[in-house]
Amino acid sequence: MTTAVLIGAQWGDEGKGKITDYLAEQADVVVRYQGGNNAGHTVIVGEEEFKLHLIPSGILYADKICVIGNGVVVDPQVLLQEIEHLEAKGINTSNLRISSQAHLIMPYHKKIDEVEEERRGAAKIGTTKRGIGPAYMDKFARVGIRIIDLLDKEEFEKLLERNLQEKNHLLNKVYQTEGFSTEEILAEYLSYAEKIRPYVADSSFIINEAINAGKHVLFEGAQGTLLDVDHGTYPYVTSSYPVAGGACIGAGVGPTKISKVVGVVKAYTSRVGEGPFPSELFDETGALIRDIGKEYGTTTGRARRCGWLDAVILKYSVRVSGIDAIALTKLDVLDTLDTIKICTGYEYEGQKITEFPHSLKVLAKCKPIYEELPGWKQDLSSARRYEDLPVNARNYIKRIEELSGAKVAIIAVGPKRTQTIMLEPIF
Ligand code: GDP
Ligand code: IMO
Ligand code: MG
Repeated sequence: MTTAVLIGAQWGDEGKGKITDYLAEQADVVVRYQGGNNAGHTVIVGEEEFKLHLIPSGILYADKICVIGNGVVVDPQVLLQEIEHLEAKGINTSNLRISSQAHLIMPYHKKIDEVEEERRGAAKIGTTKRGIGPAYMDKFARVGIRIIDLLDKEEFEKLLERNLQEKNHLLNKVYQTEGFSTEEILAEYLSYAEKIRPYVADSSFIINEAINAGKHVLFEGAQGTLLDVDHGTYPYVTSSYPVAGGACIGAGVGPTKISKVVGVVKAYTSRVGEGPFPSELFDETGALIRDIGKEYGTTTGRARRCGWLDAVILKYSVRVSGIDAIALTKLDVLDTLDTIKICTGYEYEGQKITEFPHSLKVLAKCKPIYEELPGWKQDLSSARRYEDLPVNARNYIKRIEELSGAKVAIIAVGPKRTQTIMLEPIF
C-alpha cells in the first residue's frame, strides 16, 4: 500500500495540479479532500491546457478513479460546468465519484461572501467570492445542506426553506440587499440533482477499499499551509484544512493509512489576496518573477503578489504537515536572475526569529533576513535529469533541503508533464 498526501507548502498556487497530474500516472485513485472551487489547478497535457477547480487533476487519465471527498464544498453549477467542459474536450468523467456527505455551496453563500467582503472595507480578506467561507460556516453551525439532502427532494425543500428564512433576514436587514426565493433555488438545484446523482457515492468506503486492496491513492490538496484555518496567517486564510491532516478528515481515512506527505514548494513565494507576506517584493525583481512565472490567478485572474522563497515558512510547513518529500516547482522561472535570495529568518525588534510567528502584529513588523546565492543564468526548461542541472541550481536545491529539513524528490522546470525530474519515487 502507498498513499500520498500532496499539499501546498506556501500560500497556494505552488503547482499542485501539475505535480498531481504527473504522479497520477502511477496512482489508481486521486482524491480532493478540502476547499472548493476557490482552487484553480492548471494542468498542461501536450498542447492542451486544463484549469480544474473541483475535479481532481487525475481526471485527465482515462483509468483513474477520481473522488471529491466529504471535506470539499461543492457548487453544483460549477461542478456540472466543469464536467461538461471536460467531456467537450474528450475527457471521460464516468470515473468521477462525489461524496454524499460533501456540503453544497448555495446561492446565498456566494452573495454573503460578496457583501461581507464589501462590508469589511480595508480589512477585507480578498476572498475568491465563491461562497467558500459562508458554506463552511453553515457546515460547522450544523445548518449546511449536503449532497445527500439534494438527492431527497422533500428534505432539500425543507432545509432550504428553513435556511432562507434566516439568510434572507440577514441579507435584507443587515446587508440591506435582496434575498432569494425558495422556488427559484429549488427549481435550479433540483435540476442539478438529477445530473449529479449518477456520480454520488460513499467516497470513504471507495477510498478505503482501494487502500485495503493495495492500490495507490493520491490525495490532492488545495490552497496551502499558510491558508489553513488553524495553521495559516489567520484571519487571512481560507475556511478549510489544506494541511496534510485535512486529508484524513476530508476523505474519511485513518492517519495509519497515510504513507507519505509530499509538499509542493514553488522556487519563490506568491500570494493572492490580502494578508502578511514577509518576503514580498515590491520592486522590478518581483515584477519580473510575476511576468516570467505568469503569476495571475487561475480562478480570479488577479495578479499574484510575488517574493523570495521563505525558508521559515518551509520549515513550518514541514512541521505541521510532516512533509517527507518536496516537489520543487518553477525553478526555471529564476533562470535569468544574477542572484537569488532565500529568507532564513526574521528580524523582530532587534532579535532573530526562526519559527513562524502567529501574531499578525509581530509578523507585520518582521523584516526578512536573507541569504544570497548566485544564480545559474541558464535555461533549465529542457533539463530532464538531476545531472543536467548547473551547479548553482543544485546548490539552491541543497540549501532548500538543509533549511526546510525535507528532501527534494521532484523538480519541475516547466509546466508540461515532460518538464519534470524525478529524484525519488513517491509510489
Ligand atoms: P496550483 O493551484 O498549486 O495547482 O497551481 P496553479 O495551477 O494555480 O499555478 C501554477 C502555474 O504554474 C500553472 O499555470 C502551471 O501550469 C505552472 N507551472 C507548474 N509547474 C511549473 C514549472 O515548473 N515551471 C513553470 N514555468 N510553470 C509551472
Ligand atoms: P489553489 O488550490 C491561492 C485565497 C484567497 C484569499 C483567501 C480566502 O489554486 O492553490 P476563500 O475564497 O478561500 O475564502 O479566500 O484564500 N485562496 C487561494 N490563494 N490559491 C488558491 O487555491 C486559493 N484559494 C483561496 O485569495 O486570500
Ligand atoms: Mg491555483
